[in-house]
Amino acid sequence: LPATAEVHDGHLFVGGVDMVQLAHEQGTALYVMDEADIEMRMTRYKNAFQQEYPHSAVLYASKAFLNKEMLRLVEKHGLELDVSGGGELAYAQALNFPSQSIHVHGNNKTPREIEEAIVYGVGAIVVDSRIEASRVSEIACKLGKRQRIYMRVTPGVEADTHEYIRTGCEDSKFGFTMLDDFAFRCVGDVQALPGVELIGFHCHIGSQIFALHSFKEAIDVMAQFSARVKQHYGLEIQELDMGGGLGVAYTASDKPTSIEEFAHVICSGVKESFTRLGLSLPKLMVEPGRSIVANAGLTLYTVGILKTLPHIRKYVAVDGGMSDNIRTALYHASYEPAIANKADQPRSEIVTLCGKHCESGDAVVIDMPLQHPELGDIVAVFCTGAYCYTMSSTYNGQPRPAIVFVKDGAARVVTRRETYADIMARDV
Ligand code: LLP
Repeated sequence: LPATAEVHDGHLFVGGVDMVQLAHEQGTALYVMDEADIEMRMTRYKNAFQQEYPHSAVLYASKAFLNKEMLRLVEKHGLELDVSGGGELAYAQALNFPSQSIHVHGNNKTPREIEEAIVYGVGAIVVDSRIEASRVSEIACKLGKRQRIYMRVTPGVEADTHEYIRTGCEDSKFGFTMLDDFAFRCVGDVQALPGVELIGFHCHIGSQIFALHSFKEAIDVMAQFSARVKQHYGLEIQELDMGGGLGVAYTASDKPTSIEEFAHVICSGVKESFTRLGLSLPKLMVEPGRSIVANAGLTLYTVGILKTLPHIRKYVAVDGGMSDNIRTALYHASYEPAIANKADQPRSEIVTLCGKHCESGDAVVIDMPLQHPELGDIVAVFCTGAYCYTMSSTYNGQPRPAIVFVKDGAARVVTRRETYADIMARDV
């Protein structure tokens, strides 16, 4: 539940705002974000890393959730920014986000994206391949600049998460592979490129990770890699970025570790591994996305159709679905729902919340307990703050929901609801 969730007179309140009233005012489907929850997590990340490892920075991975107001919060709380392409960079440019505090990711950045990033003066481009290193160097030379880069390395660590979001194992499209010592052999070539300055190594082992030992293993691999690079190439790496990936609790059975524990494992792991190998401590970066925004978000829907299949299941059809939350269909993600206008009643029925799209797989919640559903009820689905809006679509011509931030009893629309005209606007 979002940090400020409460129940008054049977209604769910978040940020001091009645979710039933909000749904009636704004219409559904509706994304709601508890601003205090986001701010609390940003503060905890910042404090935890500052305390354990003063020479560090927390970059918010904007792919998890991005709009202009979110970006203002990121800047206000002194976090830096991880963007994964030209579109996310455009948001940063639109708000004059400090360019030096931006890292640019992506396994196939276009020449145009690379040029835009260099012109804007980003703090680092995280180079994903040997080909890309040359491309960045060429473009930087053409612009008369030298671009700070990281090399993204695939550390060969299998994180304990869904295979679609595992990225650190060896069979991955991301990063310089360590197979056949490829990444190591590339360091010299990359270092020799005239348009780039190799300042750091990066790795990201996956997302929604509960078992922190995977991070420790990855740190060890990165430290050993750095030690070999120092010995062989005489290059002591200045910065290390351990990516994102901390898991969150989507349902009561998920038991994630806290931000503070995560910070402790990462910071102590880096200190220990680098010191043991006689290396000086690099500047340490992490790039959390999900663990900053997932918990703050909920999606409100209106119940439109009820259908009971004897001995099979009860379908509760809502006015959204895979267009606003693809994660259930794509990853079999689990979410917990509640009826916002019956929030004080027991969740006594097992239901499937299906969407309104033309696909059998279109469900938001599969076989979870809910209060007795009736037509017109407002259903809240929790923990939808990450990778729902940013992965949303207009499938079946469905306009994307508005986004409302709630705090201290006030609700403000920070992204308006998409219209049919918006959807058609680019057509000739
Ligand atoms: N850094 C890099 C290089 C990444 O690729 C990612 C996520 C992050 C940071 C942030 O990871 P987080 O802290 O959010 O776990 N769409 C999937 C998640 C894909 C994650 C992709 N990369 C989902 O909905 O679960």
